[in-house]
Amino acid sequence: MKSAIAILDFGSQYTQLIARRVREANVYCELFPWDTPPEDVLALEPRGLILSGGPASVYAPDAPHLPKYVLEQGVPVLGICYGTQLLAHHLGGHVARAEKREYGPAQIQFVGPENPLFENLKSFDAEPSVRAQDRSQISNLNVWMSHGDSIATPPPGFEVLALSANSPVAAMGNLDRGFYGLQFHPEVVHTERGADILRNFAIEVCGCAPDWTPGAFIEQAVAAIREQAGAGRVVCGLSGGVDSAVAATLVHRAVGDQLTCIFVNHGLMRRGEPDRVVHTFRDRGMRLVPVDATEEFLSALDGITDPEQKRRIIGERFIRIFEQQAAKLGEGAGSARFLAQGTLYPDVIESRGPERQTAARIKTHHNVGGLPEDMQFELVEPLRYLFKDEARAVGEALGLPEGIVWRQPFPGPGLAVRILGAVTWERLETLRAADAILLEELHAVGALRGETQQALAVLLPIHSVGVMGDERTYQNVVAIRAVTTEDFMTADWARLDHDLLARISNRIVNEVVGVNRVVYDITSKPPATIEWE
Ligand code: XMP
Repeated sequence: MKSAIAILDFGSQYTQLIARRVREANVYCELFPWDTPPEDVLALEPRGLILSGGPASVYAPDAPHLPKYVLEQGVPVLGICYGTQLLAHHLGGHVARAEKREYGPAQIQFVGPENPLFENLKSFDAEPSVRAQDRSQISNLNVWMSHGDSIATPPPGFEVLALSANSPVAAMGNLDRGFYGLQFHPEVVHTERGADILRNFAIEVCGCAPDWTPGAFIEQAVAAIREQAGAGRVVCGLSGGVDSAVAATLVHRAVGDQLTCIFVNHGLMRRGEPDRVVHTFRDRGMRLVPVDATEEFLSALDGITDPEQKRRIIGERFIRIFEQQAAKLGEGAGSARFLAQGTLYPDVIESRGPERQTAARIKTHHNVGGLPEDMQFELVEPLRYLFKDEARAVGEALGLPEGIVWRQPFPGPGLAVRILGAVTWERLETLRAADAILLEELHAVGALRGETQQALAVLLPIHSVGVMGDERTYQNVVAIRAVTTEDFMTADWARLDHDLLARISNRIVNEVVGVNRVVYDITSKPPATIEWE
């Protein structure tokens, strides 16, 4: 990688966002825990380093410190919040201990000399009246603060570049050495033009080229896969989702028929999905082994009502079938064997340290296509440094169909966790019919590309009384859930247009046999989750 930024993580909740903003500026970057051995960080040959925020105080005895090599590389450094305090503390400035935390919006005022970090913010201004004017006329910026300690005096050689009512040093810089510090968080959306400040750091201050593009990534990934796999055979589990689809397509581009995809249909997918997956990949000339394991899954799930038990059964069964198929393929192959997976960067980051795994387990997320633990494969993970939006952009650049690139998330255990209570073929068909109507209506108004990021139908384990014609009915209830979310960790219920909801409800009760009532879920996450099970 020629033009990269290394980000040292000091424990802020927002560190991943810093990486996403830098990548959005088309500059490659990687995240490292702050105490990563220097040689691992420097192997990236970074043209600049960013020090993230973090919860500690530089005065705490066991606080993360500034690794020595950081300031010795002759490359620019940007501190954010705690990262700035580390810079100040280390270089002889004064960090004031917090009397109270400053948390929330603040307004900073630019002071001091023109500098490349705050340069050209004018051209990104949303207000046409301000556009094309110089920075000195945009003297204020609304930013997001979240800090305890603050900088009282910048270190020698540094100048104050911005201040706010509560922070006499909201931004500081040593322009000669390219060292900058921000007390606020440019990576969060609440900081106006924060993304532009990070872009300025990467491109204007560090001199990185904005060459991290889907096309460049594809070229590098294909070469790397060829090198890794050589003449070996590769298997890849397709789930129908974007990640495994993009991974498989990259591997196929790299090694052609050495790749065999396995698609296990567990019978719990949405209407038409298994056929769509098979055709999409066959049409692209890929070897694909579809396995219809519907019967096997349904008998394993017979009478099971507990959500976690459903997940466990489906996960185990999936692995067994995948293993059997992969073993069949291996017979007589006689060469090294690889397993391609669509693992993304957030999974890699989150599986790094035990300290990040202490959160309570709300649901066992089973990713169909996930790694069978005792398999002897070497992994091929071309997406392990990509965020989801980057994987989608690569999918588009590879010419994958929109339906796959923009497919909303679908849980590995499929409709089994959207049928509350026992799963039967009849109930699956009822839910598939309702779900198809929901998606059709949402697609018709383009709602899945903006108004909601995920929408689903749930079949409830109750009956309700209704009237159809002049007859009493006693039938199923379908719940509709549509959410808005950025990261699926938190979500709000989507304020879908009432006429749209009315159409969906009318069609479901009229067209789906056995359903006489539709309800709309108006709970956010938390306290609810997105799926009902
Ligand atoms: P929850 O329901 O936990 O879901 O708010 C968050 C996101 O994860 C998806 N989800 C799953 N994905 N296997 C998966 O691969 C699962 O078992 C699973 N459960 C939930 C869910 O659809 C939402 O996008």
